[in-house]
Amino acid sequence: MMHPDLFNPAAIAGIPLRNRLLRSATHESMAEQSGAPGPAHEKLYTAIARGGAGAIITGYAGIQQDGRSSLPGMLMMHEDSLVPAYRRLTGAVHSHGCPIILQLAHCGRQTRSAVTGMKPVAPSALKDRIFNEEIPRELDEEGIAAIIADFAAAAGRAARAGFDGVQLHMAHGYLLAQFLSGYTNRRRDRWGGSLENRFRIVSEILLRIRRELGDYPVLAKISAYDRRPGGMRIDEAVGIARLLEASGCSAIEVSSGTVEEGLSIMRGPELPVAPLLACNFRFTAIPVPLRKAVVAPLLRLGMPRPQPVTNYNIDAARTIRQAVSIPVITVGGIHTLTDVSDALDTGAADFVSMSRPFVIETDIVRKFREGIRTASCCIKCNYCAILIEQGPLRCWYGKLPERQTIPEGQGRFCL
Ligand SMILES: Cc1cc2nc3c(=O)[nH]c(=O)nc-3n(C[C@H](O)[C@H](O)[C@H](O)COP(=O)(O)O)c2cc1C
Repeated sequence: MMHPDLFNPAAIAGIPLRNRLLRSATHESMAEQSGAPGPAHEKLYTAIARGGAGAIITGYAGIQQDGRSSLPGMLMMHEDSLVPAYRRLTGAVHSHGCPIILQLAHCGRQTRSAVTGMKPVAPSALKDRIFNEEIPRELDEEGIAAIIADFAAAAGRAARAGFDGVQLHMAHGYLLAQFLSGYTNRRRDRWGGSLENRFRIVSEILLRIRRELGDYPVLAKISAYDRRPGGMRIDEAVGIARLLEASGCSAIEVSSGTVEEGLSIMRGPELPVAPLLACNFRFTAIPVPLRKAVVAPLLRLGMPRPQPVTNYNIDAARTIRQAVSIPVITVGGIHTLTDVSDALDTGAADFVSMSRPFVIETDIVRKFREGIRTASCCIKCNYCAILIEQGPLRCWYGKLPERQTIPEGQGRFCL
């Protein structure tokens, strides 16, 4: 059963959408070295726009060099010189009747100086279990002020580049999530402690954007819960949602998890052990036979496999939607028309968003609308999420690429 309003026009903060199915932020490893969108971005986003998406949320775009991803090809919006390239991109997407929202992010401690050349920063000097080569530098007042200013400056550039809005990436354990969670924020000053204090950096960013850009749409993506000790729980997420609304946020996308927890953000039935061992930075220095004989079984034993794998943030979205009056978007394992209906019909969310279904088929929304598909062909193998460490985003459909010729120890597809 298709929700009656799914393909009717709707709006988020005045952004007209042709339907309620959005493309959720998906890092593509496709940007130029400067952080400008590359030709592959234009091709991909144009295809998604032509393919009927209600709106596109871009892959995360960095607001500061310090907060750059350790993945290759991250979009950046930290300099005015980037604006013209983005203007071409937004123009191309708009010509297909699709709005486009720029996701703004700072990775905080979820990055590596070995790649970025800069020591990671965080609210507190606590090591991450994945990015665990170094202890991040605790941000001081000056550093926090710069981050607030740089988020607002990036939003200003987005507006000038023709984006219909921005989304603050406050989910998945990135810098803003690190401030929100008691697990990563142990500060005793005005940026830590109470929920209001942990939220302060976000309220300052929103205040500044509102002052500089008026009612320009600013969405937020949050992790409504995770499994970290002392981490995010739904009752605190409700408080955050209320604070977001009070601070002028336009809409909330509800996700869950942190990168540190493994693949709880994008869940699947199996662990993608083969691509992890073949290209993840934590394993590629280990000789191949040892990877196969020792690391693989340990991974299988030790990595959590969160359940369910479909529509897994719907209850959190419903709880948050009951607490606020701004639109709520739910994401996470929504891959069939039934999943969409379960989210929209039961009032859990106003909009739904998907990531992996667009990786395998850019025109999945049109196919849903025309009755060509009722379910995405995505098998949730998560190879796409692992192999972006090596090259541009694409669907691998559960198979490692054939190239197995790169010498052992150099990481690329060695298994
Ligand atoms: C390859 C890949 C890259 C992603 N990059 C981002 C990102 O840049 N920002 C973000 O908020 N979420 C990112 N995500 C998470 C997705 O937006 C989404 O929350 C998650 O995949 C669950 O939705 P799905 O089941 O529709 O894939 C990414 C997911 C994948 C698979």
